Amino acid sequence: MNQISLSLLAWYDANARVLPWRGFHDAYRTWVSEAMLQQTRVETVLSYYERFLSRFPDLPALAAASEAEVLKEWEGLGYYSRARNLWKGAKQVVSEYGGILPRDPEKLRKISGIGPYTAGAIASIAYDVSVPAVDGNVIRVLSRIFGIRSDALEPETRRRIEALAASLVPAERPGDYNQAVMDLGATVCVPGTPDCSRCPLSAFCDAFRAGDASDLPVLPKARPQKVIPYAVLLIRSGDRILMRQRTERLLQGLWCFPMLEGTFSTEELAEQVQKKLHLTCSNFMEVGSARHIFTHQIWQMQLYTMSAEASASAPAGYEFIPLEQLFALPLPVAMNAALNILKAPQS
Ligand code: ADE
Repeated sequence: MNQISLSLLAWYDANARVLPWRGFHDAYRTWVSEAMLQQTRVETVLSYYERFLSRFPDLPALAAASEAEVLKEWEGLGYYSRARNLWKGAKQVVSEYGGILPRDPEKLRKISGIGPYTAGAIASIAYDVSVPAVDGNVIRVLSRIFGIRSDALEPETRRRIEALAASLVPAERPGDYNQAVMDLGATVCVPGTPDCSRCPLSAFCDAFRAGDASDLPVLPKARPQKVIPYAVLLIRSGDRILMRQRTERLLQGLWCFPMLEGTFSTEELAEQVQKKLHLTCSNFMEVGSARHIFTHQIWQMQLYTMSAEASASAPAGYEFIPLEQLFALPLPVAMNAALNILKAPQS
């Protein structure tokens, strides 16, 4: 084994984080944890992981659930396409592989929700296959060690990082090795200012020698998010509230209150509600505002309450949901401020 991998594994033996998905050789558990950990901090995942597994203890149980049930368990974790793809993938594994995830990374990659990273993570962690799992941590750690100073997302640089990653994964303990890189990237070789004094790899690290570890990896500047103004409409009709299940890619399958893009006076809003939702409402009130930040956009929301007639029927694409059933639906965090208004005693 090369010195870098050896040093890293020795460091891992002394410093591995104790995490609930570790210590098993169970591909389903690995898959669930890796799906949750994409773009999401370990601390956030901890409270979801155990609950998800007690609700869906094995892959056939997940495959047998409905999409809404799975989204409900994912509620608050964000990036809901991960949950939808995990669920679709579970169905695929039941029909194609009798419910058991294959160990071959090439086969894993053909399953919904499993990309090259997750295929590598499942194969190495659950099945001891010696393959890398290249995520942001690996890109950062390897860019620093090998002094890679070109744009890390350019295909050529990316290929170079992948080749280096593959050359470092040992034949023994590949899953521990991959998780060691993740832990190093999360606790020592962090973005911004790394803690090189605690790093088991500083003797091998080009960026440490050059003093530019905090500048690596080189990544293209993120485009600023677009701010979109919305009026969020809490339309009561007796004990029901108007909702819409999203079909857009962002938050697909989750339920939101009706939203109109733009900023409106209450008069304009009454007009728009009539025109766009074909509902005649009264008692328009502006009741607050909220902001929700997504990766590529920011929703700047003005919240309004209004009443429709008790007998009103929902416009196409919308549903009047009885209030006591509302919280059984998968609801995105972006709606929390609006939901809190409904929970308030006077409403
Ligand atoms: N981030 C992504 N996968 C991880 C894992 N298996 N352990 C810790 N952090 C991770």
